[in-house]
Amino acid sequence: MAKVRTQLVSWEDVVEWSRGLAEKVRASGYMPDVVIAVARGGYVPARLICDFLMINNLVSIQSQHWTEAAKAEERAIIKFPYEVDLSGMKALLVDDIVDTGESLLLAKDFIMRKWKPTDVKIAVLQWISSAAKFKPEYYHLEVREWVWFQYPWTRLEDTYQFFKKMLSEEAKYGKNEWTFEELVKSFMEWYEIDVGDKYFRDAVNSLVRDGFLEEEKGKYKLKL
Ligand code: ADE
Repeated sequence: MAKVRTQLVSWEDVVEWSRGLAEKVRASGYMPDVVIAVARGGYVPARLICDFLMINNLVSIQSQHWTEAAKAEERAIIKFPYEVDLSGMKALLVDDIVDTGESLLLAKDFIMRKWKPTDVKIAVLQWISSAAKFKPEYYHLEVREWVWFQYPWTRLEDTYQFFKKMLSEEAKYGKNEWTFEELVKSFMEWYEIDVGDKYFRDAVNSLVRDGFLEEEKGKYKLKL
């Protein structure tokens, strides 16, 4: 039984889900003049949707979660609040997932006020209906129980973070030395996904480079 609910998403899944999402937009009769990719998760789906709907205009906005130093509370912010003129245009705001939906709501509000398109509709690959504050106009899959989707564009980042969490937990129970094979075996027990040998190697090497782990004669130890 995995300790963290995780599901691996392949590149093939992403293409098929984007195709399905584009079909829903087309079927609704909404014809966007411009696609807006929410950085960073919306980049790949947005580009694929441009292809499936044959749309040339693609811009981007970065909306992300920000943990305020003094508070446990998480806030979404627009990272680079530049302005572009979308007056007279219908926009499609594209992201990978609506989880709580906070960052997307913020992006939509910013775009309406500052970029002034005639309309903005939201399209995502996945909508976590049990966690989200709203239902997007278009989604490909409804997810009823929260899981972490391991998308291909965050494979290294997630593997790195997952290792960090796993190692800190195992260290609490007194373990402080692993071979590479043990690290991979534990990872697969914790998360029940296999990201492949290259990503496991890249993540472990990054943890060594960042001073979280140290390696000696094939054994890895926590450095902190
Ligand atoms: N980003 C925000 N929520 C996520 C989730 N549940 N899976 C993958 N990426 C996410």
